[in-house]
Amino acid sequence: MSAPMPGIRPYGLALSSQARAALKSQRPRCLWLTGLSGAGKSTLANALELQLNQRGLHTFILDGDNLRGGLCSDLGMGADCRRENIRRMAEVARLMVDAGLIVIVAAISPFRAEREAARQLFAEDDFIEVYVSTSFAVCAQRDPKGLYQAALQGRIKDFTGIDSPYEPPLSAECEIDTQRLALEDACARLSSFLLNK
Ligand code: ADX
Repeated sequence: MSAPMPGIRPYGLALSSQARAALKSQRPRCLWLTGLSGAGKSTLANALELQLNQRGLHTFILDGDNLRGGLCSDLGMGADCRRENIRRMAEVARLMVDAGLIVIVAAISPFRAEREAARQLFAEDDFIEVYVSTSFAVCAQRDPKGLYQAALQGRIKDFTGIDSPYEPPLSAECEIDTQRLALEDACARLSSFLLNK
């Protein structure tokens, strides 16, 4: 990440993030879902958001596929682009947490260093890393978008788990294997994690 231009200094905002959160009667957090393509991150994020919304909580999902259609549409899948993609997602997540929201990020986010940099943007305990640990074999078999097949046939490059690395978290706050855990149970685990911690 490049440093801000000389002469740029943060303006101290009059209203605190605590005051924004207080109006919503909730503790804003960032739940960061990482895992292979097809691991079930978006499915889980959506089910969880519905559940939180029904409880009257204010949420937002930052989904890699969605952001790549807009804010990150200039980025490809090479390592540098992925780093920038994750940096932008993390910065947006932080702004949304400052705005008082519970933010669920669903992105492959394959590199430990960038996930760690994302964590550093948040207060301790406000960043919850969730490893959606569905195995490569299962993801490749699910292949919901036909991308694994295309990558294995060499039609797409830099595919995570094939010719682009995925670095599993070493100390995620939570691990969900969607092959072993039903969606409702995974969701219940995450929401209780989020609400009780
Ligand atoms: S990340 O690595 O930069 O975090 P992100 O989560 O935003 O990735 O986007 C991944 C999505 O892009 C996948 O869900 C998949 O649909 C699509 N995709 C397209 N090409 C690739 C690729 N080469 N590797 C992984 N995912 C890809």
